[in-house]
Amino acid sequence: MLEVKNLSKVFTVGLFSRHRIEAVKNVSMRVGRGEIVSLVGESGSGKTTLCRMILRLLEPTSGSIIYDGVDVTKLKGKKLRWYWRKVHGVFQDPYAAFHPFYRVERILYQAFNLLPGLSEEEKKARVHEALKMVGLNPAEVLGKYPHELSGGMRQRIAIARCFILDPELIIADEPVSMLDASTRIGVVKLFKDLRDSMDSSVIFVTHDIGLAYVVSDRVLIMYKGVIVEEGDPVTVMENPIHPYTRRLREDVPLLYRKWEGF
Ligand SMILES: Nc1ncnc2c1ncn2[C@@H]1O[C@H](COP(=O)(O)OP(=O)(O)OP(=O)(O)O)[C@@H](O)[C@H]1O
Ligand SMILES: [Mg+2]
Repeated sequence: MLEVKNLSKVFTVGLFSRHRIEAVKNVSMRVGRGEIVSLVGESGSGKTTLCRMILRLLEPTSGSIIYDGVDVTKLKGKKLRWYWRKVHGVFQDPYAAFHPFYRVERILYQAFNLLPGLSEEEKKARVHEALKMVGLNPAEVLGKYPHELSGGMRQRIAIARCFILDPELIIADEPVSMLDASTRIGVVKLFKDLRDSMDSSVIFVTHDIGLAYVVSDRVLIMYKGVIVEEGDPVTVMENPIHPYTRRLREDVPLLYRKWEGF
């Protein structure tokens, strides 16, 4: 469904653009329908840069992004909106993504900017359904402002806003890193439920290989802008090839290895 070919991003910074930062180097990857692919790597390894390029929020320096056979690397205008309806992002810090003076209802209705032509009833039904999916009570949250909600609730609202669009591919960039451990598991499970009920695909970004192990069908390990290892979570976890993966694995609390059920 999604095919990324030799994607690179070079940032130039400093006086006269003297310094070059190769944030993503020649990355190729695929995501199939209904598949959950985790992208794991330490801070600065290029995960967000890669995601932003796939989401077409950042121009790649070179390479291409193919979606359903369409080259979307250079899409513009109306066609780009078509792509944004199908491929949607959920980010690390939902607080920054929400207008502080908008109530939750208005924040969620912003999703319809990408989805014109729905009647008021259809909109309302979608909002309610999305909130229920993330385990929130519409009557309780719709009238609230972002600051009146807990971090976990805000994160759920951000995910609900994404669900409203019923995307085919969700790119979730560290969607649970701001949450405490107990809420985190619930939110991670949401992505699995979504895949199971709606057959959406997910790119799940995390620096926590343990989380990747429990949530994904396939794991990609990113190190210094390069994908250094790829495989099913059990193989990557039990027989890591790259030294960096081995190091990551050592940090995983035993708890994760015992998790089962999702
Ligand atoms: N707009 C930018 N201008 C210049 N350099 C950038 C820019 N965005 C990212 N970088 C650099 O690119 C590299 C990769 O950053 P990126 O944010 O993609 O990493 P990450 O894997 O998402 O890290 P984290 O886990 O901390 O979110 C870093 O060295 C970063 O400093
Ligand atoms: Mg990042």
